[in-house]
Amino acid sequence: MLPSLPGPIGVFDSGYGGLTILREMRKVMPEYDYMYLGDNARAPYGTRSFDVVYQFTLEAVKSLFERGCHLVILACNTASAKALRSIQQKDLPGLDPDRRVLGVVIPTVEALGGITKNGNIGVLGTPGTISSGTYDIEIAKFFPQYRTVTAACPMWVPLVENKEFDAPGADYFVKKYVEQLFSEEPEIDTIVLGCTHYPLLLDKIRRQVAGRAEIVTQGELVANSLKDYLHRHPEMDSKCTKNGTCTYLTTENPVKFTELAEIFLNAPIEATHVTL
Ligand code: DGL
Repeated sequence: MLPSLPGPIGVFDSGYGGLTILREMRKVMPEYDYMYLGDNARAPYGTRSFDVVYQFTLEAVKSLFERGCHLVILACNTASAKALRSIQQKDLPGLDPDRRVLGVVIPTVEALGGITKNGNIGVLGTPGTISSGTYDIEIAKFFPQYRTVTAACPMWVPLVENKEFDAPGADYFVKKYVEQLFSEEPEIDTIVLGCTHYPLLLDKIRRQVAGRAEIVTQGELVANSLKDYLHRHPEMDSKCTKNGTCTYLTTENPVKFTELAEIFLNAPIEATHVTL
């Protein structure tokens, strides 16, 4: 039996990347309570198969529900691309039809209409997100006239997770994937950073793009979309507690988690270990 009392908003990522989304949520909606869960022990998800990402994500969602969340945000593009639809359609009805799980891909795609001028969109993401075709499919649904080109960046998450995002060696891999996009479509005017880890590489990406395209990060878009969602769904809003707190859970060693999480958040935190 899941707890029925109101609870925090759950925010899930394979590891640290979702913290870039959480940070913006807390700026836009500071009054809410949040529970962040990073499956750091099993990250990265970006190179894992559909079945594995789905199973791991489902375990995380169940755990957040059991800890009192009624609404869970998959602050991970890989999980949003590979697991969200199955969880919404197959699992939620049996778990609790009144709870909700939302992702980060749709709010990002919806925003593109207000950003691109020529409809040439580039998307950078993990191998899993890119090979799922989710961005191509969703952009084509919302904006059939747009052209989408994508590139998988298998080295970017490891660079971030190993704290090498500022290192000179990272420039090589930033250049490699950005130029891959432009070589496919030189007219790209908008680049989506379709992985929640990538904002940590933003300075380097910006230098490499050198004004050729607008760079879209997801945090603020997802936070505003969530605010709008809660405004339109007062029945869900009333199940979200509002004391301005945030709890951090990790499947890895919490001391290790805290070290890098504090770089993402630019603030000290405390984390607790959980098993899924
Ligand atoms: N942060 C995740 C995303 O947005 C990817 C990290 C991973 O590969 O686990 O796709």
